[in-house]
Amino acid sequence: MKTIPLTLAALSCALLAQAQPQLREDNIDQVLAAMTLQEKATLLVGGARAATVNGVTSGMAHQVPGAAGNTRPVERLGIPGTVLADGPAGLRISPTREGVSQTFYCTGFPVGTLLASSWDTALVEEVTAAMGNEVHEYGVDVLLAPGMNIHRNPLCGRNFEYFSEDPLLSGKMAAAYVRGIQGNDVGTSIKHYAANNQETNRNENDARVSERALREIYLKNFEIAVKEGRPWTVMSSYNQINGEYTQQKKDLLTTILRDEWGYKGIVMTDWGNKAGTVKSAWSGNDLMEPGNQNEIDRIVAGVQDGSLDIKDVDRNVRRMLEYIVKTPSFKKYKFSNKPDLKAHAAVARRAAGEAMVLLRNEGVLPLKGVKNVALYGATALDFVAGGTGSGDVNKAYVVNMKDALEGAGFTLDATLVDFYRKTIDQAAAVRALTSTGYDWFRGNPRIAEPAIPAAAIRIEADRNDIAIVVIGRNAGEGADRRMMDDFELTAVERELLQNVSTAFHAAGKKMVVVLNIGGVIETNSWKYLADAILLPWSPGQEGANAVADVLTGKVNPSGKLPMTFPVNFMDHPSSANFPFDNTRTQNTGRGQQRNAKDVDYTNYEEGIYVGYRYFSTAGVGVSYPFGYGLSYTKFSYAKPVIKATADGFTATVTVTNTGSVAGKEVVELYVTAPEAGLPKPACELKAFAKTRELKPGESQTLTMSVRNYDIASFNEADSAWEAPAGVYAVRFASSVEDVRASAVYTLKKAQSWKTNDLFELNVPLKEITVSRK
Ligand code: BGC
Repeated sequence: MKTIPLTLAALSCALLAQAQPQLREDNIDQVLAAMTLQEKATLLVGGARAATVNGVTSGMAHQVPGAAGNTRPVERLGIPGTVLADGPAGLRISPTREGVSQTFYCTGFPVGTLLASSWDTALVEEVTAAMGNEVHEYGVDVLLAPGMNIHRNPLCGRNFEYFSEDPLLSGKMAAAYVRGIQGNDVGTSIKHYAANNQETNRNENDARVSERALREIYLKNFEIAVKEGRPWTVMSSYNQINGEYTQQKKDLLTTILRDEWGYKGIVMTDWGNKAGTVKSAWSGNDLMEPGNQNEIDRIVAGVQDGSLDIKDVDRNVRRMLEYIVKTPSFKKYKFSNKPDLKAHAAVARRAAGEAMVLLRNEGVLPLKGVKNVALYGATALDFVAGGTGSGDVNKAYVVNMKDALEGAGFTLDATLVDFYRKTIDQAAAVRALTSTGYDWFRGNPRIAEPAIPAAAIRIEADRNDIAIVVIGRNAGEGADRRMMDDFELTAVERELLQNVSTAFHAAGKKMVVVLNIGGVIETNSWKYLADAILLPWSPGQEGANAVADVLTGKVNPSGKLPMTFPVNFMDHPSSANFPFDNTRTQNTGRGQQRNAKDVDYTNYEEGIYVGYRYFSTAGVGVSYPFGYGLSYTKFSYAKPVIKATADGFTATVTVTNTGSVAGKEVVELYVTAPEAGLPKPACELKAFAKTRELKPGESQTLTMSVRNYDIASFNEADSAWEAPAGVYAVRFASSVEDVRASAVYTLKKAQSWKTNDLFELNVPLKEITVSRK
């Protein structure tokens, strides 16, 4: 008799364990089978705070203050919550916590555009390995990065977060970024998928774009990142493509991403709730972020009323569970909250120095025999480490140009430093007194460049050895840049450059310009005033030290432009369909301005002719071409060889350092397809490689691989990638305009790769035609 209750207890325990299995890597099916509908819906919707709704407790297992979001735990089944935080220039969390004396600063690394300027996947992996260590050690599971939208137009407010106007460079950079972060056993979220190329009305804008342009330009980089980086997560963007929200677009989230590219991870929405949760879940968007109760309710109701198949819910839940078992939160990783910020700052400095682009150098850099520096520009003291919005990192400090130059041994003109210091302090005081303070999206308002009288500059030219002028720009999430006073210099900046150039040249001295900017600006009208122009972009918290390293020659810059610097803004064909005057309403919300061109919808009339694909094909002159960048040494290219492989070719070339200092060279491989079938750009980047640091006289042979699939164009009529037979000109170049060696590849038999027929246009789109010059 005594044994009966024991047996019953054992039985009920066993039954309970069956009904309440605890999540392990190898029992996902069992856990899925044990979940209630409410629990399943809960797992598909993020949520910031713990809450109990309909008997299910969800929320954070542990919180990381300042993290952008999370996934909810289902405690009954041992499913932990996980933590998601921004990216991409470093981890974004709160630097302080209530009642805790410890700080939680993260390293402000170079922005995406500067990383891409390195054209160095190994360097990017090294930077993101350090960044990923901070993600891991601060208890975060996924970094919401990299940002990798194409620089369709110079004025997109978030271009600084993104890599390039070219999909190959963007995709390779993103894949390297993902590998570096994920090597730390934490995840990434490549974003914003896809065609999220403007900030104006970013939640609603309908990008109307052809299937060819999508596949060749706006999706190609994601395809490369997915296949070569294997990110844990993909973030669907806010906007629409051809009349459908990306987060509800099955052809985008399932057919191409999973069926064609083989993606296995989860898709989460960007941070906004759209009403069509059921359609999102059906289309393959697994996780709604940041998540709210309505979305849980909609999923539950959808299954109950039959509008959402439970099979689609289960499919998404399974993917969520597969994601969760990989996370540090699931593995109960004991994070230290103490990453080595000092070591990471050193990585940030080295990467920034190597990656920055030397645009002009008329025998002035590296600086020799210079002691006294007249440092101009408010930005010199108010240095821009990175952009604003979610891409802003809470770093412990930002080195400014004054401290960096003094650290490098220069003496700065004290009157000028004092003047700029007071100007900045005054602006801060005015901000404190008025309501024009910090804005989450825009940061602190930038200080308008103060004018300096020409007479004062003449005196400064007499008492200093050189002038360094810093031109600053900042931008970020939520707004695009303007053409006037942003892409174009302001009147005060123009006058400053003119007067400093005149005064210093009259005194037999030089002027160096440092462009501490986040996106492309106009350079053609003033570049000849400067003896040197250095482009460090927004180089992170150590960026000013890196600028000093380059100015002094401690580092030989080897960066190249990841986009074109046009002569005029309107030269970009996309400018005809871009909201550049900034007088239009931002974030209008659906219904308020349903038909405003470039606000509610944007016609991608330029098709595939984005960036250099247009300029080189149409023969339109530029200020600085794609792929351009100077070095303190020179390189020669020799022995170009093309060898056919089973599925394409390898291209080798020998690069020799013919100058007098050590340096690295990026070799860009452009391919010109035969004129057969589809219209094609004059050339397209198909591979690139960078030498190690070569000593003077030293050579290195670089090998690059290209597959036939990579040289194919997308034929909408056939729903296929097609590489026609014929002779492909292969050019080894130092920029798109500076070809150093050539060879040919002959494709004997045409090849094609069939795809699905996707991305139907909702309205007719008239693309421009461009014929090769
Ligand atoms: C941004 C994303 C970011 C998310 C979370 C959104 O507004 O577009 O890039 O990851 O917020 O902060």
